[in-house]
Amino acid sequence: MRSFVVVAHTAPLQGGFSLDDLPGGAGRLDVLCRCATEAFLLSHGIRKDVTLHFVIRDQLILDLDGSHLRHLNPDERSTGALVRNALDAAHRQPREAKVVASPGISVRWGGLRDLVEDFRAAGRPLILLDERGEPLRSAELPPAPVFVLSDHKDFTPDEEKILDGAPRVSVGPRVLHGHQCITLVHNELDWREAGWKGGGN
Ligand SMILES: C[S@@+](CC[C@H](N)C(=O)[O-])C[C@H]1O[C@@H](n2cnc3c(N)ncnc32)[C@H](O)[C@@H]1O
Repeated sequence: MRSFVVVAHTAPLQGGFSLDDLPGGAGRLDVLCRCATEAFLLSHGIRKDVTLHFVIRDQLILDLDGSHLRHLNPDERSTGALVRNALDAAHRQPREAKVVASPGISVRWGGLRDLVEDFRAAGRPLILLDERGEPLRSAELPPAPVFVLSDHKDFTPDEEKILDGAPRVSVGPRVLHGHQCITLVHNELDWREAGWKGGGN
């Protein structure tokens, strides 16, 4: 099992946005859509052993579970529609409820601290993705890692405080887009699962 948490600072809490303007009117929702594509989609299939969690404005948590996920396509527009549907569902339910909005996508009210506590209670270690961290290539990783990354903005001081103590791992020396980091993490874990030991010829 692998999990990714994307901390989203500008994505909307309400579904009333146009799918024609994900980067603008929808507060850079395109960033989250690309993260979903990279987290789950293979060329001909879906990664079932992956979960992805969007924490939106520290108020709403969208949980995407590859083992149940349906209707996720490579284009950002249709992913935006799945997110919009989940946001609408959140407002139709009592605030304490967790709602399945569509297969593999549920939504609940809560912030980063709630999600971090859930993972810690489940014994799932958090790893912060940070370009200044230890190189992923040589990092020792736990069996079911949870990688935490930010959207197009830096983590806030409050978020840094919540995540304090988590080891920091870098996928490379350059600052990349979040979805690119997800792809590189998958690539590394895929090699490890395939038995690659590293090294040259
Ligand atoms: C687009 S970056 C954030 C960019 C930053 N706010 C800026 O403007 O310079 C999104 C996230 O990807 C992760 N990230 C980017 N480059 C990385 C790298 N080389 N290694 C590990 N994580 C990285 C970090 O978690 C970062 O918060």
